[in-house]
Amino acid sequence: MTLSSTTPRPLIAGNWKMNGLSTALEEARAVAAALEDEPAAARIAIFPPATLLHRLSQALENSPVLTGGQDCHDKASGAHTGDIAAEMIADAGGKLVICGHSERRCDHGETSEQVAGKAEAAAEAGLEPIVCVGEALATREAGDAVSFVVQQVRDSLPATLAGKAFSVAYEPLWAIGTGKTASVDNIVEMHAAIRGELRSIFGEAGKVVPILYGGSVKPDNAGEILAAAEVGGALVGGASLKAADFLAIIRAAQA
Ligand code: PGA
Repeated sequence: MTLSSTTPRPLIAGNWKMNGLSTALEEARAVAAALEDEPAAARIAIFPPATLLHRLSQALENSPVLTGGQDCHDKASGAHTGDIAAEMIADAGGKLVICGHSERRCDHGETSEQVAGKAEAAAEAGLEPIVCVGEALATREAGDAVSFVVQQVRDSLPATLAGKAFSVAYEPLWAIGTGKTASVDNIVEMHAAIRGELRSIFGEAGKVVPILYGGSVKPDNAGEILAAAEVGGALVGGASLKAADFLAIIRAAQA
């Protein structure tokens, strides 16, 4: 990644999805202990299932590993059974939240407009949203990937994020959990297009918003992906569940 004095450190985010019981706290503790011995160049965050967020945040307090939620509601409170408000994530010790992950968009029919509402609610509660975008295989095969993702960026990022800390994660759906990654050329092309859109929405500030890549990031491909132009970090699913794999990805990130 190209650095300037205002470029933030890369962000390596571990999304545990619907995985993890109490025993998983040990994996996160192992990551934190290793980073205390040898600090990482990157910022690190783990997104456990909601049931573990408070305990994980306590276990990692004063460690270099931040925690966050996997989703939040766009309202501050109310009659929304099963949902979690951004302020609840902050209250449980989370500092970030993933908004509009493709599994939320697909499993729960979340639209980009709803995702924008969630990102706005997150920032209002003092959380740093990671707003996810990405195309399905059919869209890529039709040659429409870039225009589709740029439109998602436009619709999923509320103007109220101006001046706030947030990032965008590009996660092609066909690369998530499949072992297939986008080629570095595909990643560079898409991240450049996202950067262009960020600059047109947020002006100068849009130049330094981190753009993460996600989709089958593993220890053996992380170095190449993280070194690509405009890649400001990684959103890691499966490989974040084991401390050794997640640490290898963390070590691949250079400041
Ligand atoms: P994966 O998931 O690394 O298991 O492909 C990435 C994600 O969905 O964030």
